[in-house]
Amino acid sequence: MCGIVGFSSKTTSAVGPLVNGLSRLEYRGYDSAGVALASAEGLRIYKQTGKVAKLAQLLERALPERERAKYTLGIAHTRWATHGLPTVANAHPHVADGGRLALVHNGIIENYAALRAGLEKRGVKFLSQTDTEVLAHLVAAFDKGDFLAAVCDALKRVEGTYGLAAISARHPGEMVVARKGSPLVIGIGEKDVVVASDVSAIVAYTRQVIYLKDGDVAMITPDGVDIHSLDNAPVAREVQEVDWDLGAIEKGGYEHFMIKEIFEQPEALANTLRGRLDAANGTALLSGLNLSPRELAAVRRLVIVGCGTSLHAGMVGKYLFESLADVPVSPEQAAEFRYSNPIVGPDDWVIALSQSGETADTLAAVRESIRKGALVSGLCNVVGSTIAREAGRGVYLHAGPEISVASTKAFTAQVTALLMTALKLGRTRRLSREAGDRLVSEISRIPDLVGKVLEQNDAIAAVAQKYAQANDLFFIGRGILYPAALEGALKIKEVAYVHAEGYQAAELKHGPIALLSEKTPVVALLANIPGKEKTLGNVQECRARNAPVLGIVTAGDASAKAVLSDAIEVPATGVELSPIVSVVALQLFAYHVARLRGCEIDQPRNLAKSVTVE
Ligand code: F6R
Repeated sequence: MCGIVGFSSKTTSAVGPLVNGLSRLEYRGYDSAGVALASAEGLRIYKQTGKVAKLAQLLERALPERERAKYTLGIAHTRWATHGLPTVANAHPHVADGGRLALVHNGIIENYAALRAGLEKRGVKFLSQTDTEVLAHLVAAFDKGDFLAAVCDALKRVEGTYGLAAISARHPGEMVVARKGSPLVIGIGEKDVVVASDVSAIVAYTRQVIYLKDGDVAMITPDGVDIHSLDNAPVAREVQEVDWDLGAIEKGGYEHFMIKEIFEQPEALANTLRGRLDAANGTALLSGLNLSPRELAAVRRLVIVGCGTSLHAGMVGKYLFESLADVPVSPEQAAEFRYSNPIVGPDDWVIALSQSGETADTLAAVRESIRKGALVSGLCNVVGSTIAREAGRGVYLHAGPEISVASTKAFTAQVTALLMTALKLGRTRRLSREAGDRLVSEISRIPDLVGKVLEQNDAIAAVAQKYAQANDLFFIGRGILYPAALEGALKIKEVAYVHAEGYQAAELKHGPIALLSEKTPVVALLANIPGKEKTLGNVQECRARNAPVLGIVTAGDASAKAVLSDAIEVPATGVELSPIVSVVALQLFAYHVARLRGCEIDQPRNLAKSVTVE
């Protein structure tokens, strides 16, 4: 949520790297963008509403190529508005000290109103409605000649979260960055240092990175990086190597990241599975869980926390763990969980699901669970992310970077990882060797099965034409396919701006059926698993109200097709894999509907990847 880039070099202009970095981070927010550039003459600030491309055009006009070389230090930001409208005045960087200090910030300053009132009493004039501007003025107020100390002193007054970068004309060649609750990564190049909210803005320059931890403040100059605590004590942080390459974060010939990531799923899921299935013992290995059979056997209850798509994967997890491991599971929306004074303790295993590993509510749920003595694991995609680190144990998804704001491959990777975890837990309890063998062989087919769904792409695009004009859609599913229905509805809401609701198939007739008509289609999840016949009965009820029904059916299921208006076929699977193949079909359906409606698929309005505010 909001993207920050900083660049410091002895020789290279910061303009290109800052704009490139912002374009890579645009998925974190795209209401407005801005840069602050430093040269021996002072700072220059450029801001623009809308996307990074508009800022790039502004810079083209304002800053001819020959003038760019002198700006070897700069900070930049792409915004997802929290405090104040997306206007130029509210765009970052925010300035203080008569334009001599510039600061970009990701996060929320919770006590900003009190801080602002105090500063205003001392005569400070504010130019924006943002919480961030308070930070810029506070740092300026504490600047007595030591830039790092000024930032530390300011941050000690602040309640809330921040990832920030600041530069000042009073401190040429220096950039100070800090982190609490919002990620910040420092890339160490041969001649340059790049700072960003995530590594996707860094890998074009270097793979050597330092992940700052909460409470870290760093002084960055072209000569290197010095990390300190807020009390100015030196802190040592390891330099790590990122294993993503540039290709992984580019579109590679696809029109959108969303479709690229949908098509990447067979490979991504093969990576999720790699080395983790133990065919010799009918179980899964998952060494990162770091839980002994005794600890696993002692688990009395599982709580799976997450938000959005990750929550839906967690809801699938409930069916998997309850059927394979005989353990009761509560999937919980992370924000609701954290504020409910949750009843968890040493007998409970809390699994936090998060693609980004940075979602604020999920992280808070992790911290609350750790505080209450529960076993806590993270299932995250982003290596080194905060949730992964704080949980301390877990399973990395290894699905590769997900750039499209709408999550796709993370969902299937999460369900795959949950399935392996349920298998492992089941095998330490009552799941038989034979059942374990069957599951190992079923799970190993996931990449191929997903590949088979992708072969339906053209057919799904054709069906999408018939449904693309609908303004309301209902998605229905039963049992393990109910969360798949929720996920199908979420995908189409986000990328195609179609009002959609997911329901348990049986629930429709308890009210929502009143809304059905020939203009309100229903998408029914009808893979051939127990309960399908009952869902088919619900489909008949919809047809009787003239609602067109599109079914996601197992290939060759003629009896299901007979009652449907249209069908998309998915390969036959056992119950456990049915949400995976069904959701891949729904991802393609949402993508094609969005394309037909002319939507901005990778960056839907009002959204941002990685929700690091509550
Ligand atoms: C939906 C989507 C969001 C995220 C949610 C959680 O397509 O992208 O609903 O799933 O914000 O994000 P993570 O998984 O990063 O915690």
